[in-house]
Amino acid sequence: MKILMTGGAGYIGSHTLVELLNENHEITVVDNLSNSKIESIKRVKVITGKDLIFKQIDLCDINGLEKVFQEKSYEAVIHFAGLKAVGESVQKPLLYYYNNITGTINLCRMMTKYDVKNIVFSSSATVYGNPVSVPITEDFPINTVNPYGTTKYIIEMILKDIQIADQSWNVLVLRYFNPVGAHESGLIGEDPNGIPNNLMPYISQVAVGRLPYLNIYGNDYPTKDGTGIRDYIHVVDLAKGHLKALDKLPKKPGYCIYNLGTGKGYSVYDMVNTFEKWSQCKIPYKIVGRRDGDIAECYADPGKANRELGWEAKLNLDDMCRDTWNWQNSNPNGYPD
Ligand code: NAD
Ligand code: UFG
Repeated sequence: MKILMTGGAGYIGSHTLVELLNENHEITVVDNLSNSKIESIKRVKVITGKDLIFKQIDLCDINGLEKVFQEKSYEAVIHFAGLKAVGESVQKPLLYYYNNITGTINLCRMMTKYDVKNIVFSSSATVYGNPVSVPITEDFPINTVNPYGTTKYIIEMILKDIQIADQSWNVLVLRYFNPVGAHESGLIGEDPNGIPNNLMPYISQVAVGRLPYLNIYGNDYPTKDGTGIRDYIHVVDLAKGHLKALDKLPKKPGYCIYNLGTGKGYSVYDMVNTFEKWSQCKIPYKIVGRRDGDIAECYADPGKANRELGWEAKLNLDDMCRDTWNWQNSNPNGYPD
C-alpha cells in the first residue's frame, strides 16, 4: 500500500516503519524532527534494507504539506505526529492545541483535497482519565485531565465528524496504553529529549548511569504494592497493530476505536525488578509524593482489537525490559546528533 506516515521519525513511528517496510509497503514520512532525529530513519533503512521517502515538513505548514500530496498519491495515512509531554502541555497549552490540532486539520484538508480517505490515528489511553474501573473498554467515559489528552479527544471528534459527513472515509482510532521496549536489533528505541517523564526511559537512564536514582511517585495507592499500575505494551506489538488496522481498511470499517494494550497491569516495583533482572544493574530509588494527575491503576480490555482486527500483544514484560536495556546499553546517550 502507498502510505503517508506523519511523525515517522519518532519512537512509535520508527518501529512501525520497520514492520511496514518488512511487508513491502511504500512509505513517505513527514516529520518536522521537533522531537526526533533523522538518525532513526537511517537506522530503519539499515534494519530493513529498504528505502523510503523522508520529508522534513511541519504539518502546520500547509503549503509544504500540499507539495507532499501533489508529488505522489497515497492510499492511507498513519498519523503519529504530535507533541506528547503531559507536563509540558499544562505549561504550554496553546503550543499543544496549535501543533496537534492545526497539524491534524491541515492533514485532513489535504486528504480531502487529494482524495485520500483512510486514516489510522494515534490516540491515547489518557482520554479515559481516571477510569471508573479496570479493565477499560472503548465505551468507557472520556475524561481528559490535561491539554495533551484534550488534543487527542478533540482530534478523535474532528475525525468522527469528517467520517459522518462523508462516509467514504475510514477512520481507525488506536488508543495506546503505555508503549515501552525497542526493536530487538537495539538500533532504534525511545530517545526522549531532556530528563524523561515516563517510567521506562527513566529507569533505563538510571541503569546506564545518566541519572542517579528513580523517583517513585507514591507507594500509597490502593494497589497490590502501593505503586501505580499500568498496561505496558511492547512497541513492536504496538507497531504490528497498525498493520492489522491497515488490513481492515478494504472492509470499509467507517469510524472505529480500538484499545491497544496487553490487558495486564504491572506496578512500578514490577518494572524496576524486571529491569534489574535483565540489566544486571541495581536501580536505586526514592519514594516521593504522588505526581499531580496520576491515577492508581489503568489497563486495557484489548478484546475488541482482538476480535475485529485479529491483533493481540505477544511480547511480555521480560521482552520489554530486555529490549529496552539492549537499546539503552548500546546507545547510552540515545541517537547521535
Ligand atoms: P514521538 O515524539 O517520538 O514522535 C512524534 C513525532 O512527531 C516526532 O518525530 C516529532 O518530531 C513529530 N512531530 C510533532 N509535531 C509535528 C508537526 N507539527 N509536524 C511534523 N511532525 C511533527 O512520540 P511517540 O511516542 O512516537 O508517539 C507517537 C504518537 O503516539 C503521538 O501522537 C503520541 O501522542 C501518541 N501516543 C504516544 C504514547 C507514548 O507513551 N509514547 C502513548 C499514547 C499515544
Ligand atoms: N512513575 C514513577 N517515576 C517516574 C515516572 C513514572 O514512579 O519517574 C510512575 C507513575 O507515577 C505511574 C507509572 O510510573 O504510576 C507510569 O508513568 P508514566 O509516566 O510512564 O506513564 P503514564 O501512565 O503516566 O502516562 C503515559 C504517557 C501518557 C499516555 C499514557 C497512556 O505519558 O501520555 O501513558 O498511554 F497517555
